[in-house]
Amino acid sequence: MEFTHLMQPFRLKNMVLRNRIVMAPMLSRLCDPDGIVSQKVIDYYAERAKGGAGLVIVEYCYIDTKESKANQGQLGVYSDQLLPGLGDLAEAIQEWGARAILQICHAGRSTSSKYMGRQPIAPSPMPGYLGEMAREMTSEEIEGAIESFAERTRSVLGNSSTKPIPEADYKRQRLPGPDSPRVRVRRGGWRLS
Ligand SMILES: Cc1cc2nc3c(=O)[nH]c(=O)nc-3n(C[C@H](O)[C@H](O)[C@H](O)COP(=O)(O)O)c2cc1C
Repeated sequence: MEFTHLMQPFRLKNMVLRNRIVMAPMLSRLCDPDGIVSQKVIDYYAERAKGGAGLVIVEYCYIDTKESKANQGQLGVYSDQLLPGLGDLAEAIQEWGARAILQICHAGRSTSSKYMGRQPIAPSPMPGYLGEMAREMTSEEIEGAIESFAERTRSVLGNSSTKPIPEADYKRQRLPGPDSPRVRVRRGGWRLS
């Protein structure tokens, strides 16, 4: 089989990718405690960029110091103090000709007390893919998480060359879908349900 377009450049909004090879976001667990970018994380992603990917989507970063963290060794974006490290990571990827996207997340029910030492929380009391029952979030907690997403996104965009995207893979498990809970929250004029 011939992949005639694979190595052709691709425009993704205002980014031009050198080819159509994308590295999916994958938790590496290589970062320092407290979510700080480590040299190991930088070296790991630089190797992937060096390998030729057009786009590297950096693994999910947790957005607050409450329950958004999913696993040990995970990257954080919960404070501006973490942004210089994330900027260095973006630079290390870009230096090898790849473009970098940052993924931001709230663990919701996709975590476990085995990893985090506390019960996962989610919009409805349903088990996640690891089988553990989540505690139902209060409306205030949901509002707080939404605000953290917005605030951290603004902060990253204002401070570095990295671009946050909401996580793609796990959000299905928390936002409405055929197998998903109802979210009872009102925000402005709209409603998620
Ligand atoms: C070790 C590991 C870590 C992962 N970490 C993330 C992550 O941080 N964010 C995410 O959205 N998906 C994550 N995923 C999901 C992958 O990005 C990918 O969507 C999944 O492996 C399915 O890919 P496939 O359809 O090519 O098999 C992870 C998967 C693995 C195996």
